Amino acid sequence: MAKTNEEQGVIESSPTGRSQDDAFLSAYSRLMGPLQEAFITIESARPVPVRDISEIAHYLTDLTDTPDLLNKLQEVRDKQDPMLQHSLNVALVAGCLVKWLDMPRNAIMEAIFAGLLHDVGKMLIPETILLKPKKLLPYEQGVIRCHPFHSYQLIQPSIHIPQSVKLAVLQHHERLDGSGYPAQLKLDEISFLAQVLAVADSYDAMMSGRPYRTALAHIEVMEELANKMYVKLDATVCIVLLDKIKQAVVGNQVELDDGRTAKIVRFEKPRNPRPLLQFDDGDYLDLSRNPRIRITGISPS
Ligand SMILES: [Fe+2]
Repeated sequence: MAKTNEEQGVIESSPTGRSQDDAFLSAYSRLMGPLQEAFITIESARPVPVRDISEIAHYLTDLTDTPDLLNKLQEVRDKQDPMLQHSLNVALVAGCLVKWLDMPRNAIMEAIFAGLLHDVGKMLIPETILLKPKKLLPYEQGVIRCHPFHSYQLIQPSIHIPQSVKLAVLQHHERLDGSGYPAQLKLDEISFLAQVLAVADSYDAMMSGRPYRTALAHIEVMEELANKMYVKLDATVCIVLLDKIKQAVVGNQVELDDGRTAKIVRFEKPRNPRPLLQFDDGDYLDLSRNPRIRITGISPS
């Protein structure tokens, strides 16, 4: 049966952008049920329903064409089951990163597939640890740090899942400087797909609320990514994401720690996450030259 535009995730333009938002929200929300069913199947120790996951991945591939995707993801955040939502978001952002890097369509599909399955091993971790609202004890951290291995074990028997996807799932918490887990791999010991997944996972974790902290806004996420790239996260992948975040926040209103408000005009330095601001009286302030001034709030214009 032919898919409608909405079923295909095609976002039609509208003068207000409202129908675009609704179409994205509708297409995104419709994937929650099938993903939940797939996870239940995996948890009950049955084989990974590869065909169902592939179908979800195809819909997500279409959604990578959504204009202004990073802002649209903000609007659906925290309205759904956190684990399902995180899996969908990481899949979508990882797919976008690969696409923005001009990699071929099969690489986009693999990134989305890996994103959908990367945390499936968390289903084997007790909720008392997974949802603990306080800082984890060392042994609890050890339990959490087993989840990439659990995810790998759950998907490893499936001959229909590419080895590159399995490896990316196993390595998504490894970091370039060897500070990650479970194997403390370094640099090119970590697959490129795992490094894409690491950036997408870090981005979504920072943008989402967690039991032990509140969500970070895009400006703070940019500073975190700028600090972590080259050291922990792949710079090529971080730079492409930073550029997209910059596009997403231009025009936003910010509040400064001295009480003033201003609009983000542009970013003066390509590798610097601190924007050029304009006040209502027309004056400009380049935060890249004023590192002590902090942004305390950000909202759409
Ligand atoms: Fe994870």
